[in-house]
Amino acid sequence: MTATVPGTVPAAGDAPVVLRLENIRKSFGDAHVLNGISFDIRQHEVVALLGPSGSGKSTLMKCVNLLEQVDDGQIWLGGTDITDPRADQDAIRSRIGVVFQQFNLFPHMSVIRNVTLAARKVHHWNKDRAEARALELLDRIGMRAKAGAYPDQLSGGQQQRVAIARALMTNPELLLLDEITSALDPMLVGEVLDMVSELKDQGTTILMATHEMSFAHDAADRIVLLRRGVIAENGTPREVMDESQDPETKEFFSHFRS
Ligand SMILES: Nc1ncnc2c1ncn2[C@@H]1O[C@H](COP(=O)(O)OP(=O)(O)O)[C@@H](O)[C@H]1O
Ligand SMILES: [Mg+2]
Repeated sequence: MTATVPGTVPAAGDAPVVLRLENIRKSFGDAHVLNGISFDIRQHEVVALLGPSGSGKSTLMKCVNLLEQVDDGQIWLGGTDITDPRADQDAIRSRIGVVFQQFNLFPHMSVIRNVTLAARKVHHWNKDRAEARALELLDRIGMRAKAGAYPDQLSGGQQQRVAIARALMTNPELLLLDEITSALDPMLVGEVLDMVSELKDQGTTILMATHEMSFAHDAADRIVLLRRGVIAENGTPREVMDESQDPETKEFFSHFRS
C-alpha cells in the first residue's frame, strides 16, 4: 500500500504505515465531531494531535482504540481493518497501548498487579510470563523497587509512568497517549514527557493528544491540528507551528506563547 492521503509527509521515508485513517466520521446526535479525518502514521513516527478542547482529539483516539464506533470511514492498523465489525477486538487492543489523562491505575491493586492485569485477564498470559515482562518494564523506568507499592504511595508522575509501562506490556505497534500530563502538578510533567522522549528514541510509534506545545514542537515528527471536525494542518512542527500563514492556526498557537 502506498500513501495516497493528501498532506501525508513523505519525510518519514518508506517506513510501513502503522495506522491509516480514511475519511473518519463520528457524530454524537447533531454534533458532528469528526467530519472526514484522513491521515497516516508510519512506523517510528511521533504524531502530536492538537486542537482546542472539544475538537475531537479524544473521540478520534477512542475510535482507534475501539472504545467508540466510527459512523463512517476505515481505520487500518497495519493490514487489519479494525472498523470491520468482524475484527477481533481483544486481538486489536493487544496491538495498541493506551494511556489516558487520569484514573489509569486501580487504587486497590499493587503496581505489579496493575501492570499485569490486562495481559493476564484479557490476553491470557500466565502469571510468570506477565510478571517477568512487567518487572522488565518497571526496571527500564527505574521503578522495579515500587512493584509492590500501591498507587497512592506514588507521585502522579510515577503513576503515569507505570500506566505507560502497562500500555507497553504486549509490545504494541502503536501507543496512544491522551493528554497524559494534563492532570499532573506542573513539576511532575517533565518526568513523564522524558519517558515519552525515551520511547521515541527507542522507535515507539506514538499518537499523542497534548497541550504541551513546546514538547510537541521539539519531540513530534508531525503535528495534526484538528479544527471543526477536520484536519486544519498536517505537517512538521516547523511548518505548522512556526510557518503556517493560516490566521486561525496562528491565533491557536498564540495562546500558548509565554
Ligand atoms: N460520549 C459522548 N456523547 C456525547 N458527546 C460527546 C461524547 N464524547 C464526546 N462528545 C463531544 O464531542 C466533542 C469532542 O470531544 P472530545 O473528543 O472529548 O474533544 P477533545 O478531546 O479534543 O477535547 C465535544 O463536544 C464533546 O462534548
Ligand atoms: Mg480530550
